[in-house]
Amino acid sequence: MPGRRALVSILNFENTSFVKLNQSQKKSEVKVVTLTDNTGKVTGIRVNRGDQTVDYHRMNRNAAEIFNHKIGDLHDFFSSVDAFALVMKNKRILDVGCGGGACVKDLAELDLNVRGLDLHLTADMKKKSHYIEGDAFHLPFRKGSFDTLLSVWSVFKYEPLAAIPQLLAESMRVLAPKGTLLISPIFDLEKTQVIRRWCEQNQAHLFQAMPSKALQIIKR
Ligand SMILES: C[S@@+](CC[C@H](N)C(=O)[O-])C[C@H]1O[C@@H](n2cnc3c(N)ncnc32)[C@H](O)[C@@H]1O
Repeated sequence: MPGRRALVSILNFENTSFVKLNQSQKKSEVKVVTLTDNTGKVTGIRVNRGDQTVDYHRMNRNAAEIFNHKIGDLHDFFSSVDAFALVMKNKRILDVGCGGGACVKDLAELDLNVRGLDLHLTADMKKKSHYIEGDAFHLPFRKGSFDTLLSVWSVFKYEPLAAIPQLLAESMRVLAPKGTLLISPIFDLEKTQVIRRWCEQNQAHLFQAMPSKALQIIKR
């Protein structure tokens, strides 16, 4: 992330926690440390998984920002929040890596059936049934639970190349047949090629394979 080093140096690290996975989920210890600013406000998380550490800085984008700028180039249907809402009426939507939940809140206000999942939820979010604390690598849902997954500026962009097949397999598991995974641009040619090959080999259809564009993957 550009300027990451400078940003990290002014942050405090606190609230170390371990994400507990269900018995049925694969064992993997994930250590999550919240990143806070000088006022104690949580500005992101540091995720440690074995020898891999990734920092995520929260932007808390609302639905308009996401649909107008992050995944709006996918398809005319998704070029605005209202257009997305029309197409997604009655679909089960999960925002994976939802951050502070601004997008989830907006979509819920449009009467969409949406939930947000993140490795770290604020105390307020924990009180609301829309949100669930969980890990994109081991989603706490049965297979076929959702029609649409959103992944905006999240794990597909920041986790290493080697993690991509597992993230795709887990996303496809919880999607119903013909379900859609929408990923904001990942700006990484190699990763995009890995995604394209994975889709060719795993009954999934990738609509375009340009690293600077959002990706739309349909489960066959
Ligand atoms: C850069 S923020 C983007 C948040 C939001 N999608 C947006 O566009 O404003 C990335 C989010 O992914 C979450 N995250 C990172 N690793 C995750 C994982 N393995 N499972 C679920 N969420 C994760 C972080 O906590 C953070 O909230």
